[in-house]
Amino acid sequence: METTSSNVPRQFRTAVVPAAGLGTRFLPTTKAVPKELLPVVDTPGIELVAEEAAQAGADRMVLVTAPGKESVAAYFAEERELESLLARRGKFDLLERLRNAPKLLDVDTVVQQRPLGLGHAVLQAESTLAADESAFVVLLPDDLVLPSGVLETMARVRRRYGGSVLCAIDVPRESVSAYGVFDAVPAFGADPDVLRVNGMVEKPIAADAPSTLAAAGRYLLDRAVFDALRAIEPGAGGELQLTDAIAALIDQGHPVHVVVHRGRRHDIGNPMGLLHASVDLALRREEYADTFRSWLHSRLDSPML
Ligand code: UTP
Repeated sequence: METTSSNVPRQFRTAVVPAAGLGTRFLPTTKAVPKELLPVVDTPGIELVAEEAAQAGADRMVLVTAPGKESVAAYFAEERELESLLARRGKFDLLERLRNAPKLLDVDTVVQQRPLGLGHAVLQAESTLAADESAFVVLLPDDLVLPSGVLETMARVRRRYGGSVLCAIDVPRESVSAYGVFDAVPAFGADPDVLRVNGMVEKPIAADAPSTLAAAGRYLLDRAVFDALRAIEPGAGGELQLTDAIAALIDQGHPVHVVVHRGRRHDIGNPMGLLHASVDLALRREEYADTFRSWLHSRLDSPML
């Protein structure tokens, strides 16, 4: 069995990144630019997600794209001419930035011809997995989960309990109705942030929510999910829902756990979420933090003109 540098069995090597959605919340921009390429400060969301997957040990990313969104995969191609131009001009910082995305991991593409749902998008990646890949991760590029590291925790949970592992953030009860919410109980073991999932409720009203643990877009899925996806019927909106396939796995007795991520999550698939993420990341960037913070203070203190 393949092992990691710490000599423990590796839980996944492929990261599936579904990027075939219509991006209607970002219209009219998404008429021409895929939302995955919109920059958070200066880096497209898709590069941040690829970086997270690579750091967690993935060596391959399968991008699920839609017709017309070829530029998302093209973003990971090397640009030799531009590289030599920057080198000749001595712009070595920019050169390093330019080279980052192409060297993170190998990129394969599958095309989802029609937006038939997240579950359908994930199913398109099945044929790209090797026969010995018993699990893989899915990262939704709309979700920035910070700081990175939760995929590594999820891998440890799969090593211990087997099955599939999801990721949650604890949200205020008054906002649960915007999310898929977990019905979960503490797992056998000491870690209070690892729970066994009994089910999920989509967008519950606050009073009925089984918990305040909302799904964040990170999944470590056993290959069994593909059979479950083939067996389910289209759900909400006529789309094949990944959560319905996971619910079917739970019904079959497949272990499903959730790791509660005690960090931040930004939904960069909508304009305000992207703005929050940009402010958050700018305040963490050494080269921007001080000037941006003082500009922000003075802007908040000055009247609207
Ligand atoms: P969303 O429903 O949040 O994204 O899907 P969307 O459809 O692009 O956005 P809006 O609502 O129209 O603004 C969650 C993730 O699943 C992918 C999306 O690209 C996003 O990463 N997805 C969704 C697909 O790849 N295919 C689909 O058919 C649906």
